[in-house]
Amino acid sequence: MLHLLVILAAISFTLTASQTNEKSPPTYEVVYGEFTWFEAKQECEKIGGFLAEPRTPAENVKMESLCASETYWIGITDLNHEDIFTYARDDSTIIYSNFAVHQPNSWDGEQDCIQLYTDGTWNDLSCFEHLGAICQFASGCHGDPHMRTFDGRAYTFQGTCWYTLFKDCTEHSRFEITTKFEPREDSTPDQVRTRIVAFNITVGDEYSIIDGLDINTGRTDGQKTEARVITTQKKDKKIKLNFTSKNTTFTLEWTLRKHALSVTYDGSFYHGKLCGLMGNADGIAVNDFQKPDGSVAKDADEFGESWKVNGTKCY
Ligand SMILES: *[C@@H]1O[C@H](CO)[C@@H](O)[C@H](O)[C@H]1NC(C)=O
Ligand SMILES: *[C@@H]1O[C@H](CO)[C@@H](O)[C@H](O)[C@H]1NC(C)=O
Ligand SMILES: *[C@@H]1O[C@H](CO)[C@@H](O)[C@H](O)[C@H]1NC(C)=O
Ligand SMILES: *[C@@H]1O[C@H](CO)[C@@H](O)[C@H](O)[C@H]1NC(C)=O
Repeated sequence: MLHLLVILAAISFTLTASQTNEKSPPTYEVVYGEFTWFEAKQECEKIGGFLAEPRTPAENVKMESLCASETYWIGITDLNHEDIFTYARDDSTIIYSNFAVHQPNSWDGEQDCIQLYTDGTWNDLSCFEHLGAICQFASGCHGDPHMRTFDGRAYTFQGTCWYTLFKDCTEHSRFEITTKFEPREDSTPDQVRTRIVAFNITVGDEYSIIDGLDINTGRTDGQKTEARVITTQKKDKKIKLNFTSKNTTFTLEWTLRKHALSVTYDGSFYHGKLCGLMGNADGIAVNDFQKPDGSVAKDADEFGESWKVNGTKCY
């Protein structure tokens, strides 16, 4: 009987693990206050996020769990095209909705912004009503550098050097992404504030170095050939890049103007097998501060410094 229980427990663990860790999960935070929808959007942007965009029933449930007693704005609107709801960030048509019964009712085109009810259903409301906001965050580095691991742990780290953002931590490591942090103009000797200015994506024998908006690709053996594993796309001062290893695709989005780098993955092979400033991607946030030797750092500074790339020039 005990054996059976153990086996069952093991099976249910694998099932949940593979279901919840296919994609890097979005993380949400509530910002309390009395904001119009437009102000709510700005509040989220101020802290390096954006108004939440639930795209699956599971994401909607995760968001709903945050609003026990109040209702909040989310990042969906039909301001641009009456009755066609789109995501506020890129105006693309929504791919999932969860409207309450008899909603959206538009009210003669007066109600263009989406409110999340405490039961997780949606309502269209005048954008000038006053509510709190649910902000969403991508994993990566946005601003200060305000870091967020794949598992959603947020921390501040002000390094001034090259650091390992994330890498394949299996025995035969296939990729490593390093980033260069530099002090911002508004840094003072007492308070250094840094940001990402460049990064280096090395996958197998291929690399791509992004410095500002310059993209330099090549092979580590010195041969000058087009990159084939790393796909890069430059548009409107943004660089989007992806590569696939095992069954997992990693996507990096770099917005130079904000010095923001988001990283997402889709695929389950690297569950718990990554390491670096973005943690191990095992779905658990509290164990994310692992140093290269596998021990756990006591704070963000010790953790960050442990991932300094050896032999690089620092400031
Ligand atoms: C890029 O990263 C790879 C692997 O981490 C390293 O071998 C290479 O020297 C780096 N290139 C530069 C220009 O920093
Ligand atoms: C990788 O990027 C290219 C170019 O932007 C795109 O066509 C392709 O669909 C992307 N691959 C994946 C798996 O997302
Ligand atoms: C991806 O790889 C993992 C680990 O090898 C495996 O458990 C999973 O089923 C694979 N997923 C797909 C879609 O192939
Ligand atoms: C850099 O070298 C030190 C000393 O050899 C080592 O303890 C540390 O783990 C190395 N850092 C990384 C990121 O490999």
